[in-house]
Amino acid sequence: MDIVLSGIRPTGKLHLGNFYGAMKNFVKMQHENKCYFFIADYHSLTTHPTPENLHGSVKHVLAEYLACGLDPEVATIYIQSDVPEIPELYLLLNMNAYKGELERCTSFKDTIRKQPENVNAGLLTYPTLMAADILIHRSQKVPVGKDQEQHLEMTRTFANRFNRMYNVEYFPEPVAYNFGEKLVKIPGLDGSGKMGKSEGNGVFLVDDPDTIRKKVMKAVTDAGPTQPNQEKPEAVQNLFTIMKVVSQPDTLQFFEDRYNSCEIRYGDMKKQLAEDIIKATSPIREKFEAILADEAYLRKVAKMGAEKARASASQTIKDVREIIGFRPF
Ligand code: TRP
Repeated sequence: MDIVLSGIRPTGKLHLGNFYGAMKNFVKMQHENKCYFFIADYHSLTTHPTPENLHGSVKHVLAEYLACGLDPEVATIYIQSDVPEIPELYLLLNMNAYKGELERCTSFKDTIRKQPENVNAGLLTYPTLMAADILIHRSQKVPVGKDQEQHLEMTRTFANRFNRMYNVEYFPEPVAYNFGEKLVKIPGLDGSGKMGKSEGNGVFLVDDPDTIRKKVMKAVTDAGPTQPNQEKPEAVQNLFTIMKVVSQPDTLQFFEDRYNSCEIRYGDMKKQLAEDIIKATSPIREKFEAILADEAYLRKVAKMGAEKARASASQTIKDVREIIGFRPF
């Protein structure tokens, strides 16, 4: 079985886009691969969260993972900071990660533009920490979005450099991985682009029904079609795209027909869409609330995940130390 690994930074709640674009695939792929899913809490320190926020967000994301259907008995689900072998590999990889290549990384350039008052070394070496995350289990497949492609490329560079430097074939070259059909891209509610966390754009999995209704009713549309079979503007198309994912095919067809005959009432469509989103997310929200309240269960899951992750990570560190030349007397 191939080794698959993915991580998520504990910054904010999961939205519909995360669920249909990633989580649903993770849930399927856990049965067909050896999967590691972790919460990247070290990575989130680059933006200096308070201790309460850090802990609360990690717990939140862990409960969301489980509520979406990741099974801790099947996949290895863990918290990055529970695995000290990761920072050790990070230190070792940093010795062969060059300032120039790290500075050229797009995410670094973007972030320092956004937070010029906090250009810390952790930001610069974000790609080496991510490489350590991936290489610590010698992962081959990494399900991530387009925005992480460059980080993955750097991981391959660091892995190859290590292999060449010590003349070994130790680390595999990890590649981006899409499981099953094409990735579903969920657009936002604010008229353009994909769903994100910003105000007026995203529906969170844990939003209650009233919040979902309010958000959907406020979604951007237009004055309506004036000619039969007219092409839809982006904002309207976006609602249809979401409907295609959450609603029954005949519901979608009904509103398509209404649009094409210029009889559509966006208010009706939004009401239906909101109810179908509620139907899709309610089981997850209810499960999430139950899990979040069950401290003992969360503790057990985190402990089990840390043990499984460390078993694999410590083997890698043992090998790497031997290869580098840290040898016992
Ligand atoms: N950088 C990723 C993001 O921002 C999160 C992440 C950290 C990750 N380490 C990883 C993803 C390792 C995949 C593999 O989304």
